[in-house]
Amino acid sequence: MATGPQFLQTPGPSNVPPRVLAATASPTIDHRGPAFAELTSALLPRLQEVFGTGSAVVVYPSSGTGAWEAALTNCLSPGDRVLGFETGYFATLWRDMAIRLGLTVEFVPGDWRHGVDPAVVAERLTADPVIAAVMVVHNETSTGVRSPVAAVADVIRRTGHPALLLVDAVSSLGCIEYRHDEWSVDVTVSASQKGLMLPPGLGFNALSDKALTAAERCRQARSYWDWRAVLNANRSGFFPYTPPTNLLFGLREALDMLLGEGLPAVYARHTRLATATRAAVSAWGLETVCADPTAHSDSVTGVLLPEGFPAAQLDRIARDRYNLVLGMGLGRLAGRAFRIGHLGYLNEAALLGALGATELALGDTGIPPPSCGVSAALAALR
Ligand SMILES: Cc1ncc(COP(=O)(O)O)c(C=O)c1O
Repeated sequence: MATGPQFLQTPGPSNVPPRVLAATASPTIDHRGPAFAELTSALLPRLQEVFGTGSAVVVYPSSGTGAWEAALTNCLSPGDRVLGFETGYFATLWRDMAIRLGLTVEFVPGDWRHGVDPAVVAERLTADPVIAAVMVVHNETSTGVRSPVAAVADVIRRTGHPALLLVDAVSSLGCIEYRHDEWSVDVTVSASQKGLMLPPGLGFNALSDKALTAAERCRQARSYWDWRAVLNANRSGFFPYTPPTNLLFGLREALDMLLGEGLPAVYARHTRLATATRAAVSAWGLETVCADPTAHSDSVTGVLLPEGFPAAQLDRIARDRYNLVLGMGLGRLAGRAFRIGHLGYLNEAALLGALGATELALGDTGIPPPSCGVSAALAALR
């Protein structure tokens, strides 16, 4: 039975800082009273900063999946054609949802080891002037591959195509540089349990004027997810339903931490920790899932396992002996990869502990790493 602190190294949920947890334990207040209106009114502009937007950010009591649905149902009508890319497990789930909502999805096949290729976006948009939206997962949590959102947005601009750009920033927001306005993203989808260092339970949609115009024309049935109802109520600091007040207390605290550290410093810390993680993986003689050196994620590293490696045993040993929780392979990578989350409330000391425990668990699973990953990570950090 493992003892000592838990090392939660899944790529979300991530570790929740004690001061954020403490904030969520404050007494719940009346969500129709003046203190609540003050809370929301102060919170929303600071949340916009993290998305890099001066436009509205809609907050839902939901997981990231709910925020995906909100993005699709508010600005796309049944029968609309959308362009998606098979970058991994989450891109595929989002595609499946779009199909269930009656959209026609052109899904560009991928090998789960590369991000979206802007040249392919240009080709598909040029071939199909009626595509209503392009869906991109900025950071594929299942693989550790980043896609070039700015370059995709540039293609849409250059081709003069009217498509909306919908981006999933669930595992990049608050970890990897993100600029909703500057990149001309129309809807950015995110959630609370990763870079924002909160427990699961909040979903977000950051919007553009173009997305709001599309919402007026949209023929998809929606009620709970309707942006307009939330935006109307938010104007006076309220919500059209009972909001998750205690998670909003936590969000206020988490934003204090992120903006207090400064977003450039937050991104630089993630880059440093990701670089050290990849140095360890390489010392272990293992390969990252990401096959494009320019597309490595700074929030999660996917690691390929040798053929026949007992992945389930690695998972069990890590949990039972070392109190270390790793992400395992998802979808077509199940049994063939594991994932190290290095996002959110994390520093050098915690990462080195997690990498050390991973190294022990790999050895216990029967394939001892050929060289010391922790030393390699230390060298990278120095
Ligand atoms: C990139 C990405 N998109 C969407 C989701 C779905 O979010 P949730 O599990 O909060 O519904 C996840 C969850 O891990 C994710 O990593």
